[in-house]
Amino acid sequence: MLRVALVGTGGISGAHLPAWKELEGAELVAVCDIRHEKADAAAEKYGAKAYYDLDTMLDEVKPDILDICTPTYLHPEMALKGIRHGCNVLTEKPISLHEKDVDIIYAEAEKYGVHFMVAQVLRFWREYVYLKDVYDKKTYGRLLSGHMRRLGTTPRWSWDNWMTDPERSGMVPFDLHIHDLDFMVYAFGAPKKMECHRAGTPRQDYLHIDYDYDDFFISAEASWFSGDYRFCAEFVFQFEKAVVALEDGVLTVYPEDGKPFTLDGEDAPECGINLPATNAYAEEIRYFADCVANNKPVSIIKPEELKTVLRLIDGFSK
Ligand SMILES: NC(=O)c1ccc[n+]([C@@H]2O[C@H](COP(=O)([O-])OP(=O)(O)OC[C@H]3O[C@@H](n4cnc5c(N)ncnc54)[C@H](O)[C@@H]3O)[C@@H](O)[C@H]2O)c1
Repeated sequence: MLRVALVGTGGISGAHLPAWKELEGAELVAVCDIRHEKADAAAEKYGAKAYYDLDTMLDEVKPDILDICTPTYLHPEMALKGIRHGCNVLTEKPISLHEKDVDIIYAEAEKYGVHFMVAQVLRFWREYVYLKDVYDKKTYGRLLSGHMRRLGTTPRWSWDNWMTDPERSGMVPFDLHIHDLDFMVYAFGAPKKMECHRAGTPRQDYLHIDYDYDDFFISAEASWFSGDYRFCAEFVFQFEKAVVALEDGVLTVYPEDGKPFTLDGEDAPECGINLPATNAYAEEIRYFADCVANNKPVSIIKPEELKTVLRLIDGFSK
């Protein structure tokens, strides 16, 4: 049985904690947050012990897995702390705001003989998995163009407002656009060229980026708008023989010949929002636990890809 401890019981822990709780072969033994009421509430809900300080939790619990769900700027130091305590470490994205940390963390994980993974969840999100699959297999011919967007409202819910502090969150490029850029680098490799347009005020941030590959281009948008804009995460990819689009939570294939169909094989709905049939957060957690339990390498995410992503963001985020 893998003994799991999680640090940072804020927003995203709400996706990790139930996944750990339901995973066979793992036991959620401890949770930690500097906000006592948050740690206590999570501990009670999930039957774990509450801690208010990471060092104390690591010293006392000695977990097999440390899951890091704290604000971005804390990920590198907490990952190193976990690794040096002999824990296998899963950390929320991004690994860091600084490319140099990638080599440091991976080298330390190797030195201590533990597994390390960044929770880049789109790699486990079935609509994105499908997109990569049809690209790899050329199911609909060559890729010609793509558009990815991830638009939402400026987060006002984070602890200590860390998300709207550029030094602690890196703002829209590191917090939001990194999902799509990480997927692009994973699925299509590093783009050859990029051009970024960025506009905003201290209260909002909008990016439009064109990424050029040899045979196709991908344009991307990401935003935190100051108004209460409805969150959307969508894409439209044009292949030679079909368009593959994720809109309103539904992946639809529009073939050149034949009727549009959804990922579930149904006729395309005219409208409506479907929830994903699989929970990508649970999938990434299951994958990492399996790597740890069976001593398999974390092959789905490579440090070179993480470095490429941080280097690209560095190019347009200053
Ligand atoms: N994969 C995704 O879809 C996704 C979605 C949202 C957030 N995230 C990532 O998850 C991370 C956390 O984001 P969030 O939205 O949950 O933020 P949040 O502010 O809601 O939660 C962070 C929690 O960490 C706690 N914390 C702060 N410092 C601490 C410390 N030193 N020790 C222990 N606990 C501490 C805070 O009290 C808070 O409860 C970020 O890095 C973010 O990029 C990922």
